[in-house]
Amino acid sequence: MVKRLLIAGLTGYFYGRAAADARQRVNVFASLALQEAEGGRTLERIRQAKAAEIPAWLDELMQRHIRDEERHAVIFRRAVAAEKMSIDAESPAAVQASASVGEGSIKRFHKSEDLAAIALTDLLAGILIAEEGGVRAFRSLIRTIPVQLSKTRAGLESVLADEERHVRYLTDTLRTLGASRNAERMRRRIENQVFDDFGKIVEHLLSRKERPVLVKAGVDTEVAGEAL
Ligand SMILES: [Fe+2]
Ligand SMILES: [Fe+2]
Repeated sequence: MVKRLLIAGLTGYFYGRAAADARQRVNVFASLALQEAEGGRTLERIRQAKAAEIPAWLDELMQRHIRDEERHAVIFRRAVAAEKMSIDAESPAAVQASASVGEGSIKRFHKSEDLAAIALTDLLAGILIAEEGGVRAFRSLIRTIPVQLSKTRAGLESVLADEERHVRYLTDTLRTLGASRNAERMRRRIENQVFDDFGKIVEHLLSRKERPVLVKAGVDTEVAGEAL
């Protein structure tokens, strides 16, 4: 529990500080745009790999979830555009942001070469924990984002509402599938892993070194016309 509080506090601190600083903020939005898009694609791969085990009611919820993540990616691309920047997809930090939520990261975590070989409830528990992290991050961003960025704030609020819904449906699903304890076990495992890296993370957050850059100058005109 103490670990959980510390991790939550650290997330709040990081996103809070980043949102208040224009140069950091745009990089956080770019990172989130890439993570949301890749998160949606990963969910679709899970949906296909586990199609035989996913009941119709859950498949419907997962399809909506995938559409939500695609919409979130557009919101964050617009947030980057609002800062008069665009995403530099080839930058190492951009590649890393996508990889952090990609299929590869899930396979590494579950120590499996094949998505289909991982238990559906384990996959869902992993997604739930990522969604909970998202809720914490978005709450901190909303608390600290400057008031004049009203469009970005409204976007963030709608993303947060979706992420909270994702947490609810995944929690309910794991309960229905009798795997709530599974999720709790996995949460502890992730927390321990994060906690082992705690020193490094704190050091990184407190250092005044150059932060990763995922953006370049100039607005992506394609984004401005996209409907939500
Ligand atoms: Fe999302
Ligand atoms: Fe989500």
